Parts: sequence; structure tokens; C-alpha cells
Amino acid sequence: DRMWGWLWLALRSMLTGSLSSGTAHHTQREERESTDGAISFEYHRYEELRKALVSVWLQCPTITRIYTIGESFEGRELLVLEMSDNPGTHEPGEPEFKYIANMHGNEAVGRELLIYLAQYLCNQYQQGNETIIDLIHNTRIHLMPSMNPDGFEKAASQPGEIKDWFVGRSNAQGVDLNRNFPDLDRIIYINEREGGANNHLLQNMKKAVDENTKLAPETKAVIHWIMDIPFVLSANLHGGDVVANYPYDETRTGSTHEYSASPDDVMFKSLARAYSMYNPVMSDPHRAPCRKNDDDSSFKDGITNGGAWYSVPGGMQDFNYLSSNSFEITLELSCDKFPNEETLKSYWEQNRNSLVNYIEQVHRGVKGFIRDLQGNPISNATVSVEGIDHDITTAKDGDYWRLLAPGNYKVAASAPGYLTVIKKVAVPYSPATRVDFELESLMERKEEEREELMDWWKMMSETLNF
Ligand SMILES: *[C@@H]1O[C@H](CO)[C@@H](O)[C@H](O)[C@H]1NC(C)=O
Ligand SMILES: *[C@@H]1O[C@H](CO)[C@@H](O)[C@H](O)[C@H]1NC(C)=O
Ligand SMILES: [Zn+2]
Repeated sequence: DRMWGWLWLALRSMLTGSLSSGTAHHTQREERESTDGAISFEYHRYEELRKALVSVWLQCPTITRIYTIGESFEGRELLVLEMSDNPGTHEPGEPEFKYIANMHGNEAVGRELLIYLAQYLCNQYQQGNETIIDLIHNTRIHLMPSMNPDGFEKAASQPGEIKDWFVGRSNAQGVDLNRNFPDLDRIIYINEREGGANNHLLQNMKKAVDENTKLAPETKAVIHWIMDIPFVLSANLHGGDVVANYPYDETRTGSTHEYSASPDDVMFKSLARAYSMYNPVMSDPHRAPCRKNDDDSSFKDGITNGGAWYSVPGGMQDFNYLSSNSFEITLELSCDKFPNEETLKSYWEQNRNSLVNYIEQVHRGVKGFIRDLQGNPISNATVSVEGIDHDITTAKDGDYWRLLAPGNYKVAASAPGYLTVIKKVAVPYSPATRVDFELESLMERKEEEREELMDWWKMMSETLNF
């Protein structure tokens, strides 16, 4: 298919050195990347990004796969590098994770960090780093360095080192992708008052998404991706400030600044902390604001609630939480959106441990399988936690992952046509506690009751002798 077509093209042109501008400089760099696995701290334009991902794939073919989830408005591929011990398949019980960067095309640091992260994970895997080997064997990791490749090209093609603050932020249609997602916050704020779901709000609405002409192609592609893969955790990488931002992004009252807790506020704070605490700049309590007049009063320990900072309607972060099982936070990684190339190495050093540690958070809380009494998986079953008004659902093999902060919980598994089972669970910081559920179907229960009744009737009739 087309995917393999371009991959083959990319591969062939790498071998013949003809894909990109093909300067001696670039050719040397690609050789360096693919032979000794060194990380090259430079900006990657679209063609270079493709080549960098192909290099990782060539270096680590057994644990990587390149795929595309669609095209940008101008027809650039929305490329993903997947890293897992079985690339291309969802393994029952193995959680899925994603990083998306550069949805604002002029916010360039995250885009580069995901390329370096791919190179780092591949190198460390090959060098036998046990932490990284465990991570890749037990997690399906998806890295999308650019959700807005058109915007990036526009930002990057400005001459000189200093880039405009806005040029390239939006996609090629002028759409700000982080305001373009269906505004599900507004629905749950009504549901909170009037009753109604707090999760999976787009269930059975794929068609409506496809027919919605207000959605940019990049947004549509990502919505499908979010709905099709059972992601458990994700983060969305931005620039312009330095902080880990967690849901909700949109305020309840519509005011500009207002703490907007989600039902999983405790866990979200813990997740944001898991990123910020390994980043010495982000977690520095004495860090000066990026610009003199910036209002950082909502920042604490390098994290902030989104709404408390400033309200964002139609963002991707809240969309993940309200439409799927995925918990997502937003990472602001640099005061400058498009800093000098010479600084990229220091951004990598600041963020490397955070990027790895945050992926490991996917192995927290409660996980397991929901099956019927015959051992058949029950997909789309509901996992509810007492006191937290946000359910998650099982994937197709009956597998589920429910992120939770340390504590004691009552966890309920339910599905239409089955008797609900509730279990008490103690959750440590990590790893996730394994809890499986076997649900009895109501049909079976009726059958059992009928048999019991028959036995009773038999006994009675024998006793009474009629
Ligand atoms: C292995 O990877 C972890 C996580 O990135 C890192 O902290 C550690 O330093 C690495 N070990 C070696 C020997 O490089
Ligand atoms: C999942 O379950 C919900 C409610 O139980 C239902 O509305 C929805 O259609 C189901 N989804 C699928 C894909 O079966
Ligand atoms: Zn941004």
C-alpha cells in the first residue's frame, strides 16, 4: 500500500542519498545516526524527519514500525514511530502510550525531543539497558513528532535565527489545532449539574466526526487514532513556557482563570509531577517567569491545572480524557518556541529522564482482564472506581488499565447482561496491581435459579410425598 510505497522510496533514496536536498552535510549526518547510533542535535525539516525515523527503524527493526495516521492539509504524512516488542499489534494486557508534539507548528522543541527519544530508546535497547528493555517489552509506545508538519515548515522557512511568535502556529488552513477538538468539557459541565456521563462522550459518533467540516484533517486523523487504539496515557508537547499542565483546561464558569479539577485530579497531579520532578528547570521553585510580565501564580512544583493558568476550550488534552481511556497532560518545554539549534542538546538533557519516567507512569493503578465464567473476554466492559466519577472501558481482549494514585479503592466491573462484581484493591505508587474479574451472565444466573427451584421442588415433593 501507500505506506510501504513511501517507506520503500525513503529507504531506497537513503541508500542512494537522493531523498532530501542531499548535501554532503546531511549525508554524513545520516550515516552517523545509522552506524554508531549517535544523536544529532539539529532541527529536522520534513524530509529529514522522515529520514531520521527511517534510520531508527533500520537500526532497530525488530522493535520499531513506522506508520502514518493520515495527511496534513498540504499532504504531508502524519508520521508515527511505534516502539514495542511486537510492533504493529496490540498485545493483550500490554498498555499503549503516546506522545504527540508540534501540534503548534512553531513550537519546535518537542518535535526534536521525540526524534532524539526514538534514537535514545533504540540505542539503549541495543546496548542492553535493562530499564529501557523492560519498558519496550511491556509497553506499546507511539511517538508522533509532528501533528502539524505544514505549520512547522512555515515557521522553519523564516530566514534568520529569530522566529516570529505566531508564524506557523496554525495548520495551513489557519486552524489552531489545539482549539479545534470537539468541546466535550461543555457537555460534561452540563452533565455534572443535570446527570450524565463523564467519559466516552463520543461513543457511536465516528460518523458525526467524519462529517464535521469544522475539523481540520490533522484533528480528524488524531481523533480516529485516539478512538481506535486503547491508549492509557499520553502527553502533548508544546513550547512558550515551562510547566506540566493537567486537566481540565477549560474552566467551568467560562472565566479566564479558575482551578478546574477533573474527577482524577489527584492522579493527574501525580502524573504531571512525575514529569516535572525529573526536569531540573521545570521543577526549580526559583525559576524566573519566561517573560517579565507572565502570570505564573498557578505554577507549583513545575505543574499547573490548565484552567487555573488560562482557559482553553477545544483542546486535545481534555478531549483524550473525555472521549477515550487515555489520560493526557500538556507539556510546555521551553520559553522560546523555536530556540537556536545550539540549545537543542540542553533541552534534551533537561527532558530526557522526564520523557522516560513519564512513559513508565502507564504501569500504575489497577490493571487486568474482565472475562465471563467460561473465560471469554468481555470487551467494552466498564471499570468504575467508587468516589471517582470517570469510568474506563476494556479493550477488545477484555484488558483494562485504570490509572490510580496510591490508596484503597473499591473497583467495580460491569457489562450489560452480566452481574456486577466489586473488589477492594490496595494500590501502591507502582507497579499496577493486577485484578481480574469473572462476570456471570444474567442468562446463566437465571438458569442456575431455575435449577435451584427444580431441586427444591423435587425435595419438597419427595418429603411431602405427593
Ligand atoms: C538506562 O536508561 C535509564 C532510563 O533512561 C537511565 O536512567 C540509565 O542511566 C540508563 N543506564 C545506562 C547504563 O545508561
Ligand atoms: C460500549 O458500551 C456502551 C454502553 O454500555 C455502548 O453505548 C456502546 O455502543 C458500546 N460500544 C461498542 C463499540 O460496542
Ligand atoms: Zn502550543
